[in-house]
Amino acid sequence: MTSTSTLPLSGRAALVTGGSRGIGAAVARRLAADGADVALTYVSAEGRAKEVAEDVRATGRRALAVQADSASATDPVEAVHRTAREFGRLDILVNNAGVFPNGPLEDVTPEEIDRTLAIHVRAALLGAQAAAGHMTDGGRIVTIGSNLAERVPGPGITLYAASKSALSGLTRGLARDLGARGITANLVQPGSTDTEMNPADSDKADAQRALTALGRYGSPEGIAAMVAHLVGPDGAGTTGATFTVDAGANA
Ligand SMILES: NC(=O)c1ccc[n+]([C@@H]2O[C@H](COP(=O)([O-])OP(=O)(O)OC[C@H]3O[C@@H](n4cnc5c(N)ncnc54)[C@H](OP(=O)(O)O)[C@@H]3O)[C@@H](O)[C@H]2O)c1
Repeated sequence: MTSTSTLPLSGRAALVTGGSRGIGAAVARRLAADGADVALTYVSAEGRAKEVAEDVRATGRRALAVQADSASATDPVEAVHRTAREFGRLDILVNNAGVFPNGPLEDVTPEEIDRTLAIHVRAALLGAQAAAGHMTDGGRIVTIGSNLAERVPGPGITLYAASKSALSGLTRGLARDLGARGITANLVQPGSTDTEMNPADSDKADAQRALTALGRYGSPEGIAAMVAHLVGPDGAGTTGATFTVDAGANA
């Protein structure tokens, strides 16, 4: 356990959506290691969310695991308010919860479009709106997009790419809406990252590796490091920006 006062996020409170596994869990652990109290949401993996919360507590910070379905119009907002209530403040929101709809174009349904846009776009916007109401100068919003928003390397991901590309407009708009209050909003776009959504040992992994300049997958911890920079003191002058962490897949 490190003395809180020496850490970059000491005294800060964060909410990470989809923090039960993958990138969100790595972000939750990293923000705690950097000194923040951390709340995380999950939709179904209660046990795993509680394990991540335990890891946060092991660093000496406060933790909260909240069941909140990002497909709902109300859960993401309630998660924000609950975090602010329990921690007495909210400084950092990381919109990370996501799904990966993929398959032939002819199989995409209106219901799947609505659900995907709700999880990736509506929840991020409503969450940011609610979070901004609690944040003061120094507040930070980071949304996790995808490098596929900028380059679609093959068929079957039109809906996913469309939903993730909406996040660049969302981020720029938030930067303008909240800049006068000293609150930043940025977008981190991972490339192929080793999680259950996209395991580095699946039969599709080598083809993804071959698209990158570095010939490698990213790690959840690598994405978390970029988020940590943006929400920490060194990120104070950065807003409305997009950072693609994809081993050069889009280079
Ligand atoms: N992995 C990649 O290659 C990659 C690349 C680019 C972008 N991304 C983006 O990075 C983010 C995290 O992806 P990941 O790879 O870490 O995925 P993951 O391992 O599948 O984890 C997804 C997380 O999101 C949560 N979640 C899913 N649907 C939700 C819902 N309706 N409401 C609330 N939480 C929900 C899950 O909760 P439960 O555990 O409860 O299900 C889990 O915590 C996503 O936005 C994804 O699009 C990933």
